[in-house]
Amino acid sequence: MPPAPQELRAALAGCEGLLCLLTERIDAAVLDAAPRLRAIANFAVGTDNIDLDGARARGIAVGVTPDVLTEATADLAFALLLAAARRLPQAAADARAGAWRTWEPSGWLGADVDGATLGIVGLGRIGKAVARRAAGFRMTVLSTADTELAQLLQESDFVSLHVPLTPRTRHLIDAAALRRMRSSAILINTARGAVIDQAALIAALHAGEIAAAAIDVTDPEPPPPGDPVYSTPNLLVLPHIGSATSSARARMTELSVENLLAGLAGQPMPHPARGC
Ligand code: GLV
Repeated sequence: MPPAPQELRAALAGCEGLLCLLTERIDAAVLDAAPRLRAIANFAVGTDNIDLDGARARGIAVGVTPDVLTEATADLAFALLLAAARRLPQAAADARAGAWRTWEPSGWLGADVDGATLGIVGLGRIGKAVARRAAGFRMTVLSTADTELAQLLQESDFVSLHVPLTPRTRHLIDAAALRRMRSSAILINTARGAVIDQAALIAALHAGEIAAAAIDVTDPEPPPPGDPVYSTPNLLVLPHIGSATSSARARMTELSVENLLAGLAGQPMPHPARGC
């Protein structure tokens, strides 16, 4: 379990370097409690858990783990897309429960992926890697690099989110955005949970405003026991495993250590966070 905020603050009192996970919230109070801190190596490519402005103001270098998790995360986004399109969780649960009694012409029908339109929100490293996979499925790809979000939402069969979480992207996919999507559309999120207004997503799924969603990230993480994300129909939830391949996690470890050692040596980090 991640340390409680007061434990983290106490542990950092005399530290010059910190290697942290995305579960650690490095806010101004934590930075204030660590007056000797010079280097933060985040074991993640995202930085929404860190007060970057606060770190910059205190002269603390911050590093991240780009590139090495791009393909693993894009693979997972595509796995979610395929799983939701073909209703794999429902089909597998039914088979396990003994509900597979015969081959049914209209049983477990899903949506076509081949030739469908995929809207990519955020065409950065991971968004581009998802677009490469979509080409293999002969999909038409729209992205926010060349299409207004409102239009992309209206025209896409699948929408996959790849923006960092910032004040501008928090609840980017809100009730109004969900209403713009097709009732047959499927929403994929491997970015950060709070890019979606989760309550609005749950309401939209109950109302049939979209067909399904498959999310690797939630708000908060993990959702508390009994949270409606676990019981909403057509909502597939994974426990934030986008980068969870052995090789991606091994490379993330290497990059984090390289960042930390460089920062402690007073050298530029090889993989700095934006602006750090
Ligand atoms: C994972 O979500 C990461 O930001 O690396």
